[in-house]
Amino acid sequence: MENVEGFRVLGGEKIEGQVRLQGAKNAVLPILAAALLPEGETVIRDCPDIRDVHAMAGILRQLGCRCQAGRNEMRVSSAGLTGWEMPDGLSKQIRSSIFLLGPILGKLRRATVTYPGGCEIGLRPIDLHLKGLRALGVSVREDGGVIRCDGGNMHPGDVYFDYPSVGATENVMMAAALLPGVTTVHNAAREPEIEDLQGFLNAMGGRVSGAGTQVIRIEGVEKLRSAAYTPIPDRIVGGTLLCAAAVTGGEISLDNARPADLLPVAEKLKEMGCGVETEKTRVRLWAPARLRAFSCLQTQPHPGFPTDMQAQMLAAACTAEGTGVIVENVFENRLSHVADLCRMGADIRVSGRTAVVTGVKKLHGARVSARDLRGGAALVIAALGAEGETTVENAALIDRGYARLESTLACLGAKIERIPL
Ligand code: EPU
Repeated sequence: MENVEGFRVLGGEKIEGQVRLQGAKNAVLPILAAALLPEGETVIRDCPDIRDVHAMAGILRQLGCRCQAGRNEMRVSSAGLTGWEMPDGLSKQIRSSIFLLGPILGKLRRATVTYPGGCEIGLRPIDLHLKGLRALGVSVREDGGVIRCDGGNMHPGDVYFDYPSVGATENVMMAAALLPGVTTVHNAAREPEIEDLQGFLNAMGGRVSGAGTQVIRIEGVEKLRSAAYTPIPDRIVGGTLLCAAAVTGGEISLDNARPADLLPVAEKLKEMGCGVETEKTRVRLWAPARLRAFSCLQTQPHPGFPTDMQAQMLAAACTAEGTGVIVENVFENRLSHVADLCRMGADIRVSGRTAVVTGVKKLHGARVSARDLRGGAALVIAALGAEGETTVENAALIDRGYARLESTLACLGAKIERIPL
């Protein structure tokens, strides 16, 4: 991705104040894909203004849909949907283009995609997506990086995943929503975003149940109708801001939050010495002058600790008292932020998917570079707590999932600005 903008951060200011969370990226992306399914116009409220959402809207437009971004909302009309071939350039930009396979097949009974792109956090194969679709009668032909799917003989079925992939679960839910009969997904992913997709499909007249458990039942309906829907708030943006407050000895209140979704992160931050208080839709955190190390953090599928918060917690652990261990179990290459954290003075040793971090008193400013979305957010967090000035290159990668992160943090007291590079 181009390196045209970065963030300049002057560390040492406390993150303090109140912030309202917007719709979750990882809920909105599959919901936008599912907006292909109904006949009329869909309205997604609280839609975050982030690059991945714009990229997804771009793909939908190229397929013939009308997508209109308004103030905090996105309107999608699939009336003009004719294309079943995913545009190559945009699909390579975002991994979630693969989510379109299910709904396009569900609606048009054929689809062509190129291997999707996304953050460089591992191999990220799509075998489970294809396995799920094959179980619904889709015939898949892979031909020089292009995947051609023929859904002429699609039927409902039993899908078993030997790993609970988020995207593969969502793809099958969308492919089966308009398939007469009952489809069952076994060992389904249980992330809150899966429940939200069920909520959206049902708001359109779908009959889906069980999301949030390991077995999801989809009873296909003949038609889905248009709906307006507000997705769940972004637990990862919420967790990132909690970490920012934690490393700066600050205090933050997240509004429009779902405390249950933030539980794994809140529990770890408590282990590090923070106070956390929750109300129905609010999470408040106050941090000690210095954090202490957690003993071990292992990423797992939900309800385990989310991989999307691993990098930010590692950044927080860099200046905590004591030694902590992080094991990244979900992706094979998601520790690329370590080298830059070390350049800022961190003491981290990596072996395979394990990082051992021994807290130092302070990090110092440096010129560092975001290599993926969450790793980039971690560098910003580290910079907020560091002495002196840090430049984080590749703001575009962070913009994929955070809407103007610099404005949010500046409102909370940070000295941060976006700069051309
Ligand atoms: N996997 C396979 N085969 C497949 C699919 C996945 O081997 O066919 C592997 C992946 O390579 C990975 C693991 O299974 O090692 C988990 O992948 P999963 O399919 O569950 O993840 P995803 O659907 O590609 C979503 C989020 C990610 C988040 C993961 C895990 C969206 C748009 N993306 O990805 O979000 O890390 O679930 O929770 O929902 C992010 O927001 O920064 C991000 C990367």
